[in-house]
Amino acid sequence: MTDPQLSIRNLCVDYITDAGDVRAVNNVSFDIGKGEVFGLAGESGCGKSTVAMSLMRLHKPPAFISGGEVLFNGEDIMKYSDEHMSRFRWKEVSMVFQSAMNALNPVLTMEEQFCDVIMRHTNMTREQAVRRAEGLLEIVDIHASRLRDFPHQFSGGMRQRLVIAIALALNPKMIIMDEPTTALDVVVQREILQKIHALKEEFGFSILFITHDLSLMVEFTDRIGIMYAGQLIEVAPAKEILKNPYHPYTEGLASSFPPLTGPKTRLTGIPGNPLNLLEIPQGCRFQARCGKAKDSCFNVANTLTQVESNRFTNCHLFTNK
Ligand SMILES: Nc1ncnc2c1ncn2[C@@H]1O[C@H](COP(=O)(O)OP(=O)(O)O)[C@@H](O)[C@H]1O
Ligand SMILES: [Mg+2]
Repeated sequence: MTDPQLSIRNLCVDYITDAGDVRAVNNVSFDIGKGEVFGLAGESGCGKSTVAMSLMRLHKPPAFISGGEVLFNGEDIMKYSDEHMSRFRWKEVSMVFQSAMNALNPVLTMEEQFCDVIMRHTNMTREQAVRRAEGLLEIVDIHASRLRDFPHQFSGGMRQRLVIAIALALNPKMIIMDEPTTALDVVVQREILQKIHALKEEFGFSILFITHDLSLMVEFTDRIGIMYAGQLIEVAPAKEILKNPYHPYTEGLASSFPPLTGPKTRLTGIPGNPLNLLEIPQGCRFQARCGKAKDSCFNVANTLTQVESNRFTNCHLFTNK
């Protein structure tokens, strides 16, 4: 990849809890290229949303970024002032939050909600902002006249498209989508993802796409990173990752999802439970659930390692082969 748009280096994020300091994101590094769709997958609680929030520096106590760099077009946004950061959000990187469609303000019309974002971040007059909002509605296939409606007057799928339209308002270079379609039924999910894909082709932004639905993800991303217990454990092209996984955890995920096409096979899944981050074992974090674990897995310090031009894994059984 030439010239990544985003480079995350050794990102660490901690939560201070009554039970102790929990490192929810541990030494995570990856790049997203210009115009690329990068997927982040893994079981609930593995740290996906915590990574996403870091890219906008949206953490509030008890969470804090305890280390690492987030380079956007080569600049470390960790060094930006708060004021610089608030100009950066929406304009450079915008975000569609988990269950955002339920976070639209129920007592304000969509016009108010669009104009609020647009006028806060640009010099547009009210009239210009309304024109822009009407244009955005049409981009997501909603008639401009609906701008005067309230959120409850739209279907779930339309509300999700409205949220995406707000994220597009300032022509950002990257959009983070955290479980953007989880609350929707399968048919509507697919329609929305197709729409997002078409918009990406038209406007050229890159996407960080988060979901726990891997079969959906392989269809809509270029590359995928898999997280386990706060660590990135594998990165590979979407086309290859489920067919030829290099990490036993990815292998387990691959056998937990039904293929979209081809013969039906029995799903096996992954035995055991996700790791408690307060009880991190020595060695590989996946050892207790791994069918391939050897003695060496219990004291290895495994780091994500490049094993081919476009493949990374942290499984030392693989990297030391
Ligand atoms: N408000 C919080 N207080 C304490 N710990 C938290 C909080 N939010 C998240 N965590 C910790 O961070 C981990 C990762 O959470 P999250 O990023 O939301 O995971 P994901 O999005 O992959 O489901 C959780 O397993 C939990 O240990
Ligand atoms: Mg999440």
